[in-house]
This record gives sequence, structure tokens and C-alpha cells, in this order.
Amino acid sequence: MYIVFEGIDGAGKSTQIKMLKEWLEANGFRVETLVEPTDSEIGKLIREMLQRPDAETDKLQKTLGLLFAADRMLIMDKLEDESKIIISDRSFISSLAYQEPAEWIEELNKYAKKPDLLLLLDLDSKTSVARTDGKDTFENEEYLTKVRENYLKLAENYTCEIIDASNGINKMSSDIKKAVAPYLGICPDCVL
Ligand code: TYD
Repeated sequence: MYIVFEGIDGAGKSTQIKMLKEWLEANGFRVETLVEPTDSEIGKLIREMLQRPDAETDKLQKTLGLLFAADRMLIMDKLEDESKIIISDRSFISSLAYQEPAEWIEELNKYAKKPDLLLLLDLDSKTSVARTDGKDTFENEEYLTKVRENYLKLAENYTCEIIDASNGINKMSSDIKKAVAPYLGICPDCVL
């Protein structure tokens, strides 16, 4: 099973992924986690470029669109491992939400694997900006308002559970367990 976490910056994806992984392992599942951008050469380049002062220009935005797609291509084979549950921190759905134009981004990502379950951690942009350091290009309120809207529209195309990310860590974690449990045939109160 391929589970993808999406949401704007500061929604709490990495903390929730860690908690879900521990809970699934305690219930006997084998779990592997992935993060996009990855730690490949391309992923490192992406992180550098996100900090550039000209990162918001059209040419840099398009360059980033290409790099995110290329970085993702490098982990394609990992997603085929059916012996484990794969949980990913972001996916091509981030590109669809953050980059444009949409048709071009879709084309670039046409070989990307669709999630079996998308968990969208939904947060308003004001809270997002307050929770992040605002260093990355996309960490500004106006941009993130658009990204959030894009996510909510995109969610309709996938098997998706929307989680309210304005709640505290533990409430979110229990909401996520409740959302995931039926897909795996386990009860949300199991083990942990
Ligand atoms: P993020 O997950 O926030 O990494 P970190 O926790 O290290 O800051 O990803 C970095 C930024 O890249 C984030 O603002 C979202 C953006 N991004 C895209 O714009 N498109 C993509 O396809 C991906 C994967 C990320």
C-alpha cells in the first residue's frame, strides 16, 4: 500500500508520518518512509534553489517543476515494493498543488505512481506561515492560500481523507489512525 501525506508547509506531515509508522509497526506491518524532495543530488539542488532570491521568478519556478519531477523519477522503483507499506512525505500531488501550468506539470509527472490513499493535512495559510520559518520560497501567506485551494480541489481525484491540521499533534494522530484503519482492516484503537 502506498500512502501519501500532503499539505502546506507547517501542517505537521513529518511528525504525523513518524507516529503513523510507529503505530503500524506495533500492529505488525512493515513500513518504509520516503521524503520528497529526496536526498539525491537533484533533491539537494532543489533545496538550494528554494532559498535563492530569484526563486519566485517564472524561469526558476519552471526549473523547479522539472527538477521535482526528475527527483521523483529516481525513486520510482522503491514504490513498487509490495512487501511493505510505503508512506511518503509529499508526491507528484505537491507539484500539482505548488507548480504551474497544470497541464505541463501533469505531463511531466505522468509516470508518477498514484497513491492508494492520500492523507491531506489541511491547514489555513496564516497558521502555516506562523509555524514555519518563512525561509523557503513558498512559505508566504498569499502563495499558500492558493496551494491550499489547489489541494482541496485535487483531493477529489484520489482516494483521500482530509485531516484537520489546526488540531494538536495527538488529536491529529488519532484522526489519522481512524482514517487509515479501515483500509488496512484494523481497529483504530489497536495496540497503541
Ligand atoms: P518540504 O517538504 O517543506 O521540505 P522541508 O521540510 O525540508 O522544508 O518541501 C520543500 C518545499 O518544496 C515546500 O515548500 C513544498 C515544495 N515542493 C513543491 O513546490 N513541489 C513539489 O513537487 C515538492 C515535492 C515540494
